[in-house]
Amino acid sequence: MFKIATIHKFLFLIFGVVLFSCNSTEPVIKQESVHGKSVETIVEMMTLSEKVGQMTQAGRNYLVDEADIKNLFLGSLLSGGGSAPGTNEPNSWADMLDRYQGFATETRLGIPLIYGIDAIHGHNNVVGATIFPHNIGLGATGNPDLAKEIARITAKEVRATGINWTFDPCVANSRDERWGRAYESYGEDPALISALGRAQVEGYQGTSLSSPEAIAACTKHFIGDGAPTWGTGSGGKIDRGDAQISEAELRGLHLPPYRAAIQAGTATIMASYNSWNSLKLHGHKYLMTDLLKGELGFEGFIVSDWAAIDELPGNYKSDIIESINAGVDMVMVPGNTSNGGTGYREFITKLKQAVNEGSIEISRIDDAVTRILNVKKQMGLLDSLYSNDRSLIASIGSPEHRSVARQAVRESVVMLKNEDVLPLSKELSTLVVAGRGADDVGMQCGGWSIAWQGGMGDITPGTTVLEGIQETVSPATQVVHSPDGLAASSGDAVIVVVGEEPYAEGHGDRDDLVLSSEDIAVLNRVKDSGKPMVVVLLSGRPIIVTDELENADAFLAAWLPGTEGNGITDVIFGDYTPTGKLSVTWPTDMSQIPINVGDVNYTPLFSVGYGLTY
Ligand code: GLC
Repeated sequence: MFKIATIHKFLFLIFGVVLFSCNSTEPVIKQESVHGKSVETIVEMMTLSEKVGQMTQAGRNYLVDEADIKNLFLGSLLSGGGSAPGTNEPNSWADMLDRYQGFATETRLGIPLIYGIDAIHGHNNVVGATIFPHNIGLGATGNPDLAKEIARITAKEVRATGINWTFDPCVANSRDERWGRAYESYGEDPALISALGRAQVEGYQGTSLSSPEAIAACTKHFIGDGAPTWGTGSGGKIDRGDAQISEAELRGLHLPPYRAAIQAGTATIMASYNSWNSLKLHGHKYLMTDLLKGELGFEGFIVSDWAAIDELPGNYKSDIIESINAGVDMVMVPGNTSNGGTGYREFITKLKQAVNEGSIEISRIDDAVTRILNVKKQMGLLDSLYSNDRSLIASIGSPEHRSVARQAVRESVVMLKNEDVLPLSKELSTLVVAGRGADDVGMQCGGWSIAWQGGMGDITPGTTVLEGIQETVSPATQVVHSPDGLAASSGDAVIVVVGEEPYAEGHGDRDDLVLSSEDIAVLNRVKDSGKPMVVVLLSGRPIIVTDELENADAFLAAWLPGTEGNGITDVIFGDYTPTGKLSVTWPTDMSQIPINVGDVNYTPLFSVGYGLTY
């Protein structure tokens, strides 16, 4: 597809010269290559329309006409959660990217797109990709080297589809377990978050952003996304809420991971939806410009969150003026927006108006475009023709990649209780496997998996806990799958897999972190059988299981492990001795929430750092 674009461009040039020499009335856009030119020179060459285009990131599924990429000089597109081509398989993704880049490189300057996607626990939008544990599980591993390797693998699978930018790592310090994004946080300790966030920036970007297996990172969400007070949310009860904390707490708990990510060279940073003491981050010049770009010396570019500028007070035009002047360099513009914005076409029109009327200085525009083009320069996008190495497609979901994911699952499992029942023998006569999570890859993966909100069931190739058990026990062992637990009494032991159904962002804000009545019924039924009971909890955060723990003989917190559920069974049968340690505090009951290390009355069920071993 791309080769056609090259020939097309060559013919376009020939045709254009012939046409021009025939005294045509239509001036042909003369392509001026930017190859080998400095960013400063390129910015000087650019028209206002070309500059504003580079600052615009349109949602791909909101493109009114794909030719807008060329005609409006768009600098970036994104796939929001679940925004996939018609057929969700790697070659279709690569075809789509080649098509989009074909339009971008037909412009006068031929500057390729930087294309963003939420590859936050693997290339999780793509069916067949390796899906790793969510961040709360990586926090339990406490292993930066593993986190870096996961990012490196993810980058390879992302590049295989032609995409070159991920909106990750999320370095939120989640202070309230009720937040629907708690699982996107590595934990409560800023030092751990900094170490894992740095490692993943390094893994995504490699030693050179121009490497064919590197992608640009996007450390997010700056700043205080995990700090809001319950009940102040605009995206849910707490999501996108107001962080009502001192500057000392903001700097102490939430800023260190950005220092670490900047030291690691993060190419981009995403601004956060939340407010700090009632002022929205997307309009906060002190935090985005004075602190992040000034004091911390961040030289990459700041991208807004999804239609986040619309949540600023005022109309869409004033939102644009306020956010750009505050320090946003690229605006993520999906389709019709909450306050009547009609998307990227309107954004571009109003941004140019703002510049022409003097509401935004051209120096601010030039600074934003310089930052964006500096990143594209580091990525090699300005000095060579866009290419998409499809040979990497074979690596997507490969056994080697899944083996690393399985190791990550092993190291993420936290054993909360074990009354001498684990490890289980592989030679049991009969093993009953119960619970709605026993055979469900979708429940293992959680949100941001194939679809934005994730989904229960067989959403993508992987190994369920049940399949992990079946491939581990001896041929003589009878494995009985009994989701409702009614067959419990037939077993020598029972493994029960329960937990949370998938969710993302504000949709996961909950003030009742308890198991479903269905899960509790199964647990009680198995308890009544009198058989040894091993509970596996699939959840994006600590759940109130104080009573259930009493009834269990062993209890494993497996978080949201992703596609490789056999990492859990490796722990159950002793092929891996549990090493996972809590990176978040585990409350006794809802009245304790929020509860974090450092609180005056810190009497949780389990503290940060807790985890049993054999
Ligand atoms: C979402 C999230 C952000 C994500 C972006 C693009 O609303 O807040 O984490 O990167 O939009 O999908």
